[in-house]
Amino acid sequence: MAKRNLAKVWSDRFEKGLNPAIQRFNASISFDINLLEEDLDGSVAHAQMLGECGVLNKEEVIQLVQGLEKIRLEASEGNFKINTFDEDVHYAVERRLIELLGSVGKKLHTGRSRNDQVGTDLRLWLRRRIDELDTNLRRFQIALLLQAENHLYTLIPGYTHLQRAQPLSLSHHLLAYIEMIQRDRERLRDVRKRVNISPLGAAALAGTSIPINRRQTAKALGFSKIYANSLDAVSDRDFAVEFIAATSLIMAHLSRLAEEVIFWASEEFNFVHLTDRCATGSSLMPQKKNPDVPELVRGKCGRVFGHLQALLTMIKGLPLSYNKDFQEDKEALFDSVITVRDSIEAMSILMEEGLEFCSETLASAVTSDFSNATDVADYLVTKGVPFREAYQKVGRVVKDSLAQGILLKDLSLEQWRDIDSAIEEDIYEKIVPKQVVASRVSEGGTGFERVEEQLIFWRSRIDSLKD
Ligand code: ARG
Repeated sequence: MAKRNLAKVWSDRFEKGLNPAIQRFNASISFDINLLEEDLDGSVAHAQMLGECGVLNKEEVIQLVQGLEKIRLEASEGNFKINTFDEDVHYAVERRLIELLGSVGKKLHTGRSRNDQVGTDLRLWLRRRIDELDTNLRRFQIALLLQAENHLYTLIPGYTHLQRAQPLSLSHHLLAYIEMIQRDRERLRDVRKRVNISPLGAAALAGTSIPINRRQTAKALGFSKIYANSLDAVSDRDFAVEFIAATSLIMAHLSRLAEEVIFWASEEFNFVHLTDRCATGSSLMPQKKNPDVPELVRGKCGRVFGHLQALLTMIKGLPLSYNKDFQEDKEALFDSVITVRDSIEAMSILMEEGLEFCSETLASAVTSDFSNATDVADYLVTKGVPFREAYQKVGRVVKDSLAQGILLKDLSLEQWRDIDSAIEEDIYEKIVPKQVVASRVSEGGTGFERVEEQLIFWRSRIDSLKD
């Protein structure tokens, strides 16, 4: 390698080329090429600011901006060639700019370092991804809402400890996920505030003697403010940790629903039927229909949780300010975004066209258990029996009924009267599953009128443009 290769951007202090294995080890171009668009955006803003501040003349700025736009065009046509010596996207762009413009190209990096540059690129990139994820999450909420709107009066057993607890409106169950996803969207919006701060102009770590205007580049790039401290600006990766923490929770939420769909689709439950659009077959067993989509979503959580761990570990021992360790943040972020985006999309499709609820099995499920036992106790409370006493009485009835192999609805009025003389004929209608659900009208409860209110609320919220 020639001593002064164009590709070698370091100073003349370096005499020998890198060992090729170290060159490869050091390079990030294979993945940070993902930041090309944002690197060009940041460089255009930087060049224009240098012009406004009188550091570069108008002609130089025009040439730099045209050169950068030419690179953008080359990249969009698949003609932006990476050179073996390009360590990262920042060097690749600068190298190409110098090839295109000659010495003017060498002026772009005035008053800037790759440290503030990479931080800027990463924030611009993440800000876009956060906005896309918000749209994806909204689509998923709509898919859940459409199912919920169809199933207000479909009942499903509600569980605690995966033991039958009390019957629910299926809408209520699905609306719980809409709430979880709303919190995810809010969390991402909150993270976005801390992503949307400009580190540009912090230079390597200490600021610069070149008369730059950081507020101008921040404004041009749509940042809401600038980092107040140059060291903090190039050292901060909190926003990346926060983002992956927020996406980890999204994955956890998707995985909880995935897990439910998996057991709902099993023969033992048979609460949902997987359509051919979203289920796969077995290569050996012709009768099988497998829930690969929710299983993959469940399985992919580990990646994102792992990236969170990796980033926390990466930053915990780092002295101020920039350290090369930061190069490791990119693949974690890129993979988290791809994983969560694809998982949201897959779960949306699953809700939109991948499953049908089996109303008949669900209806018979809620009539063949003791999930109306609380309602007998509540009935006794209305007759003046203290709750704990009523609870004990019903516990005994359940025990006896189980021994006889009957359900509460099968008890005769005499048997009920033996339990408590206050019990009347109306007990039977109180313990019908539909009535059991309808009666739970406390705010936030599964009573149909409450759930309907929530359906209306979510419909209007989701129809409004942003939410
Ligand atoms: N590829 C580097 C990264 O991803 C860019 C910044 C390098 N800065 C430096 N001083 N070596 O973090």
